[in-house]
Amino acid sequence: MSFYHEPVLLGEVMGFWLNEIPGEYTDCTMGGGGHSHYALQKLSPGSVLHGFDRDAQAIDYARQRLKPAAGVDLHIHHLPFSELSQVLKPQSQNGILYDLGVSSRQLDDKSRGFSFSTETPLDLRMDQNASLDAQEWLFNSSSEELSNALYRNSDMRSSRRLARNILAEIDPNTEVLPEHIRRALLKTYPRQSRDINSLLARVFQAVRMEVNGEIYEIEVSLRYAVQALKPGGVLCAISYHSVEDRAVKKTAAEFLQACVCPPRLPICQCGGSHRLLKKLVNKPLLPTSEEVARNPRARSAKLRVYQRL
Ligand SMILES: C[S@@+](CC[C@H](N)C(=O)[O-])C[C@H]1O[C@@H](n2cnc3c(N)ncnc32)[C@H](O)[C@@H]1O
Repeated sequence: MSFYHEPVLLGEVMGFWLNEIPGEYTDCTMGGGGHSHYALQKLSPGSVLHGFDRDAQAIDYARQRLKPAAGVDLHIHHLPFSELSQVLKPQSQNGILYDLGVSSRQLDDKSRGFSFSTETPLDLRMDQNASLDAQEWLFNSSSEELSNALYRNSDMRSSRRLARNILAEIDPNTEVLPEHIRRALLKTYPRQSRDINSLLARVFQAVRMEVNGEIYEIEVSLRYAVQALKPGGVLCAISYHSVEDRAVKKTAAEFLQACVCPPRLPICQCGGSHRLLKKLVNKPLLPTSEEVARNPRARSAKLRVYQRL
């Protein structure tokens, strides 16, 4: 089978996410179906794989291409993963996987407006049916909102100046193109013209995260995923940049401590029974240099793994 997205950290993910026990497993980000394809071959008969994606193209692709082995059921859901609770029952799952961010298909398909290497209008919606695309988001944003997004999602220096320069370049009566953002970047950082592509990538990332509510999605979804796991069930999350990784780490940390009382309280008043997760790996797992050489998009991947107590 050929993928439109090469699955990242495949061996590591398969080793933790799946086990020999027949049961329910979930891929929250099916994308090109890379991880799901291998799961469908590896799961024991009697198992069910739930696959989620908010992108209609990914869902069509999965429906046509993914073929479960005998005795394994595949249920595909065109939903954002913040809505896992519509489908997954509490304490029903043996393993849940997140492979966050965008797929190679979304990046490479010029009509999707994710790429800054062609002069197509900024879109950046993972779900093509969502009402707000990147252009609308920019037209509706104040300078302060844009500046906060640039700082929060991409650690951009001089984010206020950059936000003002971006808003000065765009006009609601014409399309927003990468060249408008490029011009604003050159005005803000005149000495960094050699880094223009990496700066552009960071602006695109910051706007994409707002358009798709990415941090909200991660927080809401992970909180429910912890409830949806059976005791002993495993949660795997691959992130691709520090803001995404921080969201995974912070949300999981809510379930790593027994006591969640404020530190100033001398005696625990919360009951001390909040611990629902333990870490299965202390430091996140990274791709090998061979994997990065084969698939450069894996270079920033970090896999965190937790087990439900
Ligand atoms: C990195 S790709 C996953 C690739 C997949 N693991 C594979 O190997 O082919 C991420 C996918 O997650 C989807 N996605 C991102 N955020 C989502 C969300 N909040 N809800 C549902 N799908 C989401 C994107 O549309 C994209 O298809």
